[in-house]
Amino acid sequence: MALPSTVLVTGGCGFIGSAFLRRLVPEHPEIAWVNLDALTYAGHQGNLATIASAPNYRFVHADLRDAKATSEAILVHRPDWVFHFAAESHVDRSILGPGDFIQTNIVGTYNLLEACRAVWGDPEDRLFHHVGTDEVFGSLGETGLFSETTPYDPHSPYSASKAASDHLVRAYFHTYGLPVKVTNCSNNYGPYQFPEKLIPLMILSAMEGKPLPVYGQGTNVRDWLFVDDHVEAIWSVATRGRLGQTYNVGGDCERQNLDVVKTICAEVALATGKSFLEIQKQIAFVPDRPGHDHRYAIDASKIRTELGWRPKETFESGLRKTVAWYLANPEWVDSVRSGRYRDWIEANYGERAGR
Ligand code: NAD
Ligand code: DAU
Repeated sequence: MALPSTVLVTGGCGFIGSAFLRRLVPEHPEIAWVNLDALTYAGHQGNLATIASAPNYRFVHADLRDAKATSEAILVHRPDWVFHFAAESHVDRSILGPGDFIQTNIVGTYNLLEACRAVWGDPEDRLFHHVGTDEVFGSLGETGLFSETTPYDPHSPYSASKAASDHLVRAYFHTYGLPVKVTNCSNNYGPYQFPEKLIPLMILSAMEGKPLPVYGQGTNVRDWLFVDDHVEAIWSVATRGRLGQTYNVGGDCERQNLDVVKTICAEVALATGKSFLEIQKQIAFVPDRPGHDHRYAIDASKIRTELGWRPKETFESGLRKTVAWYLANPEWVDSVRSGRYRDWIEANYGERAGR
């Protein structure tokens, strides 16, 4: 596919969207990059400090739940390509309150699809890339892998809302010929991840001497991928993948949660000179997440064989970089943990361990 003149990214102030922009804005100065973000508790413009003043970068403060604002942004900027990262992304929050997940992940995706359909008369050289999750496939037993043809079976309000958005995106391909591609990825980790997710929460709590809340017995399994490898996968699919296709993306890196937490304890001990055994004593088994999916694991053979993509980072090298980043960036941590996030934690968890 020819490279676009203008790209609109939604959710570019979040964890993965900001990694995408930090890499691609400097790498492609010939492209105008527009970042549309509502700046929820999870969106921070500070994540984009390295590119904020680049001449080929623009920020648009808009909310996808607002159909008019969404269509105005598309009408004004006329992007050739759209990368749709914006979402409510945290499973625990979706359990505590699904409403925002329905509005942003389903209605917001619908608003964006409609806005693109309205301006993309000729879909030649246009692209709507939808960033999906492996959670839409439900839960695996001890064996097996999710492939692109695994039937959808979402279990949380978050994964159900993401499943709905995937279905809408594919429906627009089949019904209206909207040029779409979908990637469904496993658990990401790395710098700038909001400290509500397992890995950054555990790194910070380990450093701060707080309890490390492990749900259930800690035997649930996730397939971990360093965020920059996800960014490379999305760009590979956008530039070289086939229209109308879905590509699963995963790290081939299954770990039980308790093993992840213990590895974090060891890395934090190494980085800070504290005692590993003392940090490990902070592990606290807490009641399980309702409907907690047991195991996720991705069969990434399609993207590997068609596009030659494979992760560059191992879990060990990626985690070491991640721990070093959180240690080196206390101001970022303070700023994202203040304000609306703190109010929400107090309202929903009270004094609950580790947050
Ligand atoms: P995040 O929560 O860190 O960031 C989400 C961003 O979207 C924030 O900048 C937020 O301000 C913005 N946003 C939220 N609601 C919005 C709205 N109504 N209008 C405009 N902007 C809005 O999320 P993330 O972890 O970076 O995930 C990005 C995407 O990748 C999501 O679609 C998520 O489902 C998907 N995904 C995430 C992972 C993971 O492990 N984090 C794995 C696979 C797929
Ligand atoms: O699989 C992709 C998905 O990965 C993405 O679509 C989601 O946006 C992303 O949040 C992530 O979902 P998970 O629910 O798997 O991630 P989380 O970091 O919340 O939890 C990882 C595992 O750790 C999960 O089994 C629950 C467990 N956990 C989590 C937290 C926050 C704990 O044991 N304790 C915790 O405090």
